Amino acid sequence: MCGIVAYIGNRNCKDILIGGLKRLEYRGYDSAGIAIMVSKGPKKGGSADVSIEVIKEAGKIKEMEGQAKEARVDGKCGIGHTRWATHGEPTKINAHPHRDCSGKIAVIHNGIIENFEELKSELKASGHRFISDTDTEVLPHLLEKYYDGDLLLAMQRLMGKIKGSGAIVAMSTDSPGEIVGARITSPLIAGVSRDGNFLASDMPAVLEHTRNFIVINDFETVKLTAGKVEIFDKEGKLTSRKPFKANWSIKNAEKSGYEDFMLKEIFEQPYGVKESMRGRLTNGQLHFDELGLTAEKIKDLKKVQIIACGTSYHAALIGKQVIEKWAKIPVEVDFSSEYRYRDPLVDEEYLFVAITQSGETIDTLAAIREARSKGAKVMAITNVVGSTIARESDSVIYTHAGPEIGVCATKTFTSQIIIMYLMGLYFGKIRGSLGIEDYGKIIDELHMIPNKIQNILNRADELKEIARHTFKHKCFLFLGRIFGLPAALEGALKLKEISYIHAEGYPAGEMKHGPIALTDTRTVVVGIMPEDSVYDKILSNIQEVRARKATIFSIISEGDENSKKYADHLFEMPRTIEELYGILSIIPLQLYSYYIAKNLGKDVDQPRNLAKSVTVE
Ligand code: G6P
Repeated sequence: MCGIVAYIGNRNCKDILIGGLKRLEYRGYDSAGIAIMVSKGPKKGGSADVSIEVIKEAGKIKEMEGQAKEARVDGKCGIGHTRWATHGEPTKINAHPHRDCSGKIAVIHNGIIENFEELKSELKASGHRFISDTDTEVLPHLLEKYYDGDLLLAMQRLMGKIKGSGAIVAMSTDSPGEIVGARITSPLIAGVSRDGNFLASDMPAVLEHTRNFIVINDFETVKLTAGKVEIFDKEGKLTSRKPFKANWSIKNAEKSGYEDFMLKEIFEQPYGVKESMRGRLTNGQLHFDELGLTAEKIKDLKKVQIIACGTSYHAALIGKQVIEKWAKIPVEVDFSSEYRYRDPLVDEEYLFVAITQSGETIDTLAAIREARSKGAKVMAITNVVGSTIARESDSVIYTHAGPEIGVCATKTFTSQIIIMYLMGLYFGKIRGSLGIEDYGKIIDELHMIPNKIQNILNRADELKEIARHTFKHKCFLFLGRIFGLPAALEGALKLKEISYIHAEGYPAGEMKHGPIALTDTRTVVVGIMPEDSVYDKILSNIQEVRARKATIFSIISEGDENSKKYADHLFEMPRTIEELYGILSIIPLQLYSYYIAKNLGKDVDQPRNLAKSVTVE
């Protein structure tokens, strides 16, 4: 939550900062601001006469951008921030950057300062004046207090004083040729280029200018000048680290003619799925040695524990079913936010898996730390190279979905599901619990999944039409069973996230224990009902809600004539095996939610109150 960008170099920074913030806007969009070091020419005595000009505004970045464009200020060193409010309402005053009493220091911050009230009282008692309701404002005042000619040292002192999390970036007119940063948990990366250097919350912010990055580790501080990036460890000692080259391109991070990132990312799924299989599933052969587990270890596994949040949790639910079915290993799935507080049992013969598209979700990170402190070896599945969770886990499997900018997870979700399938298949083969024939059949079907997803995408207009007929309804129930259940849960989540309509995902068999009371003419029931082993059961469930006058929209297997009798709207999926309907059936639901939200005029890329990467508890 909150996005940070900073630049120092030989180019004017205003457009660089605004461009970077726009790419970070998915991290927070209730207010935004920039601070630029403006030179007013040489002072008497030779030293530069500089000031820091701050432009900020409540609302989306474009509100601030208008003012920034008009303001005749520019310079070659600046910082920018897009906010997702935690302390203090999303107003102009609470927007970042914040300044100290003298106005010489400007700070941006992503995270939460837990002891800010105590620090604020101390600072106030010694004469510091505060104007906002934010926790962040204590930071420039602390820097002011600790500054004695070295901004980096002041930042290092400040780190010893605060509790909580944060990526912090500051600049001061007393050190006009540098920007300093610090990291406690919240992500921070440095971008390196010939024209100058950058700090940012993540790579897409500055991909336009460089693909060379250095990840700043926890408790490190960093000093940026136009020609150098210097990193200092927890003790303040200079460390050296070479940049890595990101294989994401700026094209991936742009809309490329699509109306929204979400739509673009939905349409990128055949590619993301293929990329996530590439090198792992080739010509009928499964290579998954990167799991880093010996055959012996896999055979001895007593349990797989998966933790995740949000959409990633739904990928875990598919993982549970395939690992149990194909590899005969019990799988427990937990919300990270629950796992971390429930004093979980950890055993050497358990495999611990964390799924997270961003690699930054604070609850998942805390759950990993909890499990590792109890001796677990953690495997992370993530889409972001160099993310905190990738670095804090014992092993990492990357999904190769490319950057996902829309707040709603779409292509990262289907890539996670692919990894779950491959894992189940690999374990099943090694444990001998999957017959050769089944194994071969699953592999053949997996190879066809990208084309089948494409087939669904090619018929997006059918879903647009169904959305046009149903978007005014006030209540949506998504029903599924077995592999259709995670899709139902995810379908309801997608709809809630971007349309703000009340939607529930439910096991179809459980519906009669509660949700059926909700159904009447105002309800749309979306049935995920491929022709699988529970087809007859869900068909009965659908008839039950139909009898209560709900509008029925059924997602069915191609050519299923029988279901057509019980539906008001239908979408036919290409046929596949039971397990793989788990991935196919989510595609029409993503599109359906998208078109409902568009009919309602909602901002699908930046839904209210949500953020792409939740780095606060
Ligand atoms: C946020 C995002 C969701 C995502 C969830 C978990 O709520 O808006 O799209 O599913 O976090 O994120 P993770 O990065 O851990 O998968």
